Amino acid sequence: MKVSIVGVGKVGVTLGYSIVLKGLATELVLVSRNSERIRGEALDLQHAAALGPSRVRVRGGDLEATQNSDVVILALAQPADQGGNAMDRIASAKPNAQLFQEVVPKIAPLSPDAILLVVTNPVDVLTYATLKLSGFDRHRVLGTGTLIDSARFRSLLSAHYEIHSDDIRAYVLGEHGQSQFPVLSAVYAGGWYMGKDPEVKRAFEKTLSVAPEVFLAKGYTNFAVASAAAMIVQAIKDNSHHTMPVSTLVDGYYGIEDVCLSLPAVIGREGIAQVLSIALNEEEQAQLRFSAQHLRSVSQSLAE
Ligand code: 2OP
Repeated sequence: MKVSIVGVGKVGVTLGYSIVLKGLATELVLVSRNSERIRGEALDLQHAAALGPSRVRVRGGDLEATQNSDVVILALAQPADQGGNAMDRIASAKPNAQLFQEVVPKIAPLSPDAILLVVTNPVDVLTYATLKLSGFDRHRVLGTGTLIDSARFRSLLSAHYEIHSDDIRAYVLGEHGQSQFPVLSAVYAGGWYMGKDPEVKRAFEKTLSVAPEVFLAKGYTNFAVASAAAMIVQAIKDNSHHTMPVSTLVDGYYGIEDVCLSLPAVIGREGIAQVLSIALNEEEQAQLRFSAQHLRSVSQSLAE
């Protein structure tokens, strides 16, 4: 499987390393404006691949080098100091949207059958922009969305209840940002319903604060979001039909449409095989609508 990563900053290069370590690609292309650094990153990753599980050809290149990719990962971003603080995902909307307007129309015709996976923030708004700019079917354009937030939520629940995070079913849906919400009516470990325990709500409150905590401590995040993207690439490669919350075009769910936000989706070789319409209680429906409205207003502000 040919995978291209466009934008090889801290997240992109960490994702490249994860793809090599997991043997997710037979060809990995790294695209960046800094060709000399990319040549070095590609060489270094090629050497790492020699110690990895499978053969992969790693190279740096320009957008043309992405041709005939199976998956194109969009991790390009303007340096955070160009708009708000690094953690303010929405502040980076305008500069990153301009980058996407420049790049996506060039990438799409080079790989007309590819799945486009958006990592750059604000990921929901840029997933929507990528869908429109590429003209691809909705099932082949997705974003990492709240997969990372759901992982953080499950990690906190796992630590508190001392249950492996794999066995905790807990979804954070909506915006990958401040208007995200936990589906407390569907938090389970095995068959045990956990949603009524105040500790679960406390764990979600902490989920909202852990990313800024990481930003304050190290200035960026890379490992968790790269692992989330790698998990999606693995599901595509294996056609596993695993379910995970990813940013996708909402198509009438609770009356919402024409916006991208995270819903539980089944991921396979063709991208999004299906989006699961889980039952939300009244409060969760209101939170979903608020998230959708917030994201739609951000998308509209970019179009102005
Ligand atoms: C995160 O939550 C930066 O949005 C990314 O780690």
